Amino acid sequence: MPIRINLNGDVTQEASISVLDHGFLFGDSVYEVVVTHKGVPCFMEAHLKRLRNSAAGLCLGIPWTDEFLIREINRTIKEAGNEESYVRIMVTRGEGDIDIDPTTCSRPSFIILVNEVHLYPPVQYEKGINIALVSVIRNAKDAVNPGIKTGNYLNNVLAKLEANRKGAQDALMLNNQGHLTECTTSNFFFVSEGRVLTPSLDCGILAGITRVRVLELAEENGILVEEGEWPPEILEKAEEAFITGTVKKVMPVSHLDGHPVGDGMPGPVTRRLMRLYETMLDQAIKKTEQPSGK
Ligand code: PDD
Repeated sequence: MPIRINLNGDVTQEASISVLDHGFLFGDSVYEVVVTHKGVPCFMEAHLKRLRNSAAGLCLGIPWTDEFLIREINRTIKEAGNEESYVRIMVTRGEGDIDIDPTTCSRPSFIILVNEVHLYPPVQYEKGINIALVSVIRNAKDAVNPGIKTGNYLNNVLAKLEANRKGAQDALMLNNQGHLTECTTSNFFFVSEGRVLTPSLDCGILAGITRVRVLELAEENGILVEEGEWPPEILEKAEEAFITGTVKKVMPVSHLDGHPVGDGMPGPVTRRLMRLYETMLDQAIKKTEQPSGK
């Protein structure tokens, strides 16, 4: 059985949380998704740092040290025994009164869910995916800031449903200024005149861990990159586009709203970054395997 769920230190195949947990009642929780590469969980430090930043954004204290959480994550991965794992780390506000006020919740809960990683079909990497520009806008930065990875993804759920209706595999959202932001669970990039362009963090997006690695790889390999604010019309002249995320890595986008991006096939810059990313993952896990004081 590949699924293992670690609820506050108890690892089982089926776990339940209280319906009075504010994570359930109000979406009052934060989470991270980590995957393993050759059995090693990637970029744990960065994910735990973002988990803590997200929690701080909700004034939700995380009472466990990184060392403790890493130990629990590794133990759960081991018990699940999958070749490659999907690891979802959640921290909820905990049980409290049926009242929006979180101060009645005395103790947060952690849940580490480990499953087999469900990889995307190879054809999507060979041919690219179709995404749709949707009418649902990304949350404003002064509402639930998209930089906080909360357990409330309802805006993105609505965007995904709109993409489904349009026959697209994912949705690209604008912000309330009309600028490009990101997709429902990934960051967005496009290539114009050979340069790699991506919405800046100021547009109201999640600071993707894959995004930052891709930006570093591009720079290290002499590919010009620019972060900025762009209206969607700029995509009419884009030569290539791709999205990034922990599970999907670097995924080419071949069509936007049914129209081909460039020649409608993954372009040379995207394919190069896909290769560079795979090589970087191999190197990153070699470094993780060194004694690191875990
Ligand atoms: N999603 N933007 C959003 C809204 C996301 O939810 C994610 C991650 C990303 C990419 O971030 P990263 O490269 O750190 O995975 C961007 C995860 C994978 C998820 O919710 O399943």
